Parts: sequence; C-alpha cells; structure tokens
Amino acid sequence: MTWEAGADLVVVGSGVAGLTAALDAAAAGLRTVVVTKDGIGEGSTRWAQGGVAVVLGDIAGDSLEAHVADTLGAGGGLNELAAVDTVVRGGPDAVRRLRERGALFDARGARLERTREGGHSALRVVHAGGDATGAEIERALVEAARSEGLTVLDGHVAVDALRDAAGRVVGLSVLDGDGRAGMLRAPAVLLASGGYGQLYASTTNPATATGDGVALALRAGATASDLEFVQFHPTVLWSGPGSDTAGRRPLVTEAVRGEGAVLRDRTGYAFMAAVHERADLAPRDVVAAAITRRMIETGTDCVYLDATGLDGFARRFPTVHASCAAVGIDPATDPIPVTPAAHYACGGVVADTDGRTGVPGLYAAGEVARTGLHGANRLASNSLLEGLVVGERAVRAVLADRGLAALSAPVEPTPALPVADRTVVQRAMTTCAGIGRDATGLATASDAIEAATVTAAPVGRAGVEDAALTLLAQAVLTAAGTRRETRGCHVRTDFPDRDDVHQRASLPIRLDGSGRPMVVADALVGAA
Ligand code: SIN
Repeated sequence: MTWEAGADLVVVGSGVAGLTAALDAAAAGLRTVVVTKDGIGEGSTRWAQGGVAVVLGDIAGDSLEAHVADTLGAGGGLNELAAVDTVVRGGPDAVRRLRERGALFDARGARLERTREGGHSALRVVHAGGDATGAEIERALVEAARSEGLTVLDGHVAVDALRDAAGRVVGLSVLDGDGRAGMLRAPAVLLASGGYGQLYASTTNPATATGDGVALALRAGATASDLEFVQFHPTVLWSGPGSDTAGRRPLVTEAVRGEGAVLRDRTGYAFMAAVHERADLAPRDVVAAAITRRMIETGTDCVYLDATGLDGFARRFPTVHASCAAVGIDPATDPIPVTPAAHYACGGVVADTDGRTGVPGLYAAGEVARTGLHGANRLASNSLLEGLVVGERAVRAVLADRGLAALSAPVEPTPALPVADRTVVQRAMTTCAGIGRDATGLATASDAIEAATVTAAPVGRAGVEDAALTLLAQAVLTAAGTRRETRGCHVRTDFPDRDDVHQRASLPIRLDGSGRPMVVADALVGAA
C-alpha cells in the first residue's frame, strides 16, 4: 500500500546544502520535507576535514579575485567564470549566516584562524575543531533543524522524481527501510544528495554516496556533465599490507601539507618538488597523479606523509591523529603511510548557481550538482562553500518559480531498471577507471558491468543504490571513453596530453530512449 503526502518543497539529503536550503525554505514559510537515507546529518558533510575556502577581507594579499583565479587555475580550463564568481563572492555572507546558525570556527580572539590547502595562493581556509570542520557544520545545522522543528523523513531512500505528462517534476517517490513505497507530492524537489564515491572500492565517502541523485535526475530527463572528473584525494591513511582497504577510508586532510608536511617515497625522497612549482601544495589532481606514478615506479602500495616536523599535531589535527593512533602510528615520530582514494565528484546534474536543472520543478545543489564551479578539478575546500551558497540561492529560485504551473497528476515511473551487483561495479571501476585510464581498460570495465547487469524493479534501499551505481558507472565510462585527452582529474594514459583545441568543453550526458547514458551529439565540436 503506497502512502501519499504533500509539501511545497522536498529536499533530498541532509548535508550542508540540503539543510541550509531546508532551513531557509521553512523560514520563508514553505512546507518543507527533508528525505534522508539514514539519520539526519549522516552524509558526506560530516566527514569533511579541511574547511571552507572563503575570503573575509582580513588576510593581507588575499582577495576575491585571487580566490576566483585559484579556482580557475585548479579547474583545468572547464570552469564557468560566472559560476565561480557567484559562488566565491557569495561566500562571505553565507559563512556569516552559518555562524549565526551556531557553527563555531576555530578562532584567535575575534579573528578566524586560516589554513592553506593545495592550489590556494593564500591562507584562506577557515576550519573548526582543528580538522573536524564538516562535523561542526553538520552539528550546527542539525541542531538548528531540530530547534526549528524541520520535518525530516529519515530512513527513506528517494527512488524517482514524479513527473506529469509534460515532464514537469511534481514530487518524489520513496521507499522506507522495509521497502514500503510512499509518494511526496510537491511542485519542487531539490536534490542535495551528494556524490558517487561508492563507485570505487576505496573512498573517503560514507556508504550513502551512491549517486542516487544524479541517477534520479538523469531518469527525470536532466542533463549531467563532467562525470569523468572524479577527484581522488591524494592522502588517505593506508593501514598496512593485508589490511582491509575497502569502503570509507580515513582522510588525512590536505591542511597537514598546508602546514608543512612533505610527501616522500619509501627511500625518503620528497618527490613533489620536481613535479610542480607549488610542490606538496600543487592542485589535488597533480598530487594524486604524482603519488600514483611514484607508487608504480617504486613498486609500493603507499607513499609517506612526513609530518614529524609539525608542532602540536594532536591538537591541530585530532581526527587524523586518532585515525593514525588506531593503526599504531604516531605522526610526531612516524611518517604517515598514505594512498589516493576516490573523494569528490566534480561533475553531476547540470544546474545553474540558483540550482535550476532545466527540468521544471527539479533543482540541485552541492556535490550532486555540476554548476561550473569546479571544472575538471575542484579546488580544495570549495565544496562546503558551494553547498552553502547554492543551497541558499536554490530556495530563492524555488520561491521565485512558485505558482508557475498547477500541480498535475504524476504519470507512472518505469518500474524496472538496469542493475548490477555493486561489488562487480566497484571492482571494474577501481581497476579500470581510477587514476590512469585507457581505452582498453574502459571497454573492459564496461563489458564486465554489462555482463553483470539485469533489468529488474529495485528492491529496497540496496536495490535503488545498486541501480544508481550501475547507471553512474555506465555514464562515467561513457564520458571517460569519449574524452581522449588528459585534463584535471581525468588522466588517460593513452592520451597523456591536454587538447585545448578540440576538447576544451564539458561533455553533456543524457539517457537515450532505452535508458542508456549517451554523450549529447557533437558536444566537443566547436569547444570554447
Ligand atoms: C581535506 O581536508 O583535505 C579535504 C578538503 C576538501 O576536500 O575540500
């Protein structure tokens, strides 16, 4: 038996973008429901360590223009300047409002402390709890949500957008933990459901990051883009030979390098100085690719982050210190063994910086969205910033679009979807579509997933997630196979150079009539 309820706005996800939007929407008088797979606040936001990149005007030599330039510098020529400008310029006010909501950033007196991360030309990143910025932001937003009495449907997975005969989104279908179906009828659905790190066996992302939002949006007729640019974080803790490296891995924040730690190979050689002028603080794609090359060259499973020269490591980086201690490493005396792991989806559902996706009634904000801010490689600590700024702006768009169309009846969504076992998907993507891809490997991954795919109605949360991962894998492989160059996070070993003449453009992906991802024809022709 399917239950049905109504709202003005359904927000999918309860991280920084989702809760910021939901709180603003409720404050503006919209009947707002937050749908979240686990408990409120269980998504990726709480695991973010480094911080929020923001120019507050109190650091000599820094400016909004420098933050824009650094974002473009990291993004490999695919950022959209207007999006970068909007998000960077919206940062100071968004951070001020977040602090008014109760988030406590690390400060010395009245002045917020700053750190530096890869790709930043200035000390610009505000942080909380040392290296627990996401956890503090999530705490503040969850507390605000509770004190405001926000309606939260936890333990429910979003299945599909409900659409009327004209293709307009008119609500959301969901499943509860026992697989019971429900329908939320609403004129606006905001996806803020995070990324798809779980496509890979080893990731910094929690188990919730299965790409449900991107899959749902594609099925609703939206366009996705930049999906091939999966950012690998250069440094997650490697816990030793034979240890279980699958699932969510402990992050070693880039701020450790920002405050002086140096990457070394097993002989002690500090290899980043020869790779990039900013050495260990090069943009993240450069560092992750250099580590991968060094591991291959030296025949090792990890490199080492030498933080032994840093004072007060345990106080400044309590989360990293605790992860290291759990595997018997003391960063004060031992170099930290690290490897890259899947970390952030630079691409996603194409949306503008007001969250509009092009499908009436469907909005997207945060990691699920591709606004043009990140281009081919996200600048460190720009993601919490984007979630805050676009989360707020999306609610203003929902309010402005209200009443444009009457809410009509939904048509039946397609019940059966292609789905493969997620371990097959993760193995194929990890082996063939991580850092360093080539045509043969991408085709092998595609064939392996194809062979494991059946068409069936998803059963429960796991079924919905597996269907999303299957679709995302097909879409990432399609985009990665089409982009025959190396750019940002997309490293093609068979096309090692960047091709700005023919390929300086994003690849829009949509579903064809049979539900398979395809690159919209001639997308690279006449590239910017
Ligand atoms: C980190 O702390 O290194 C991660 C920050 C980010 O991904 O922006």
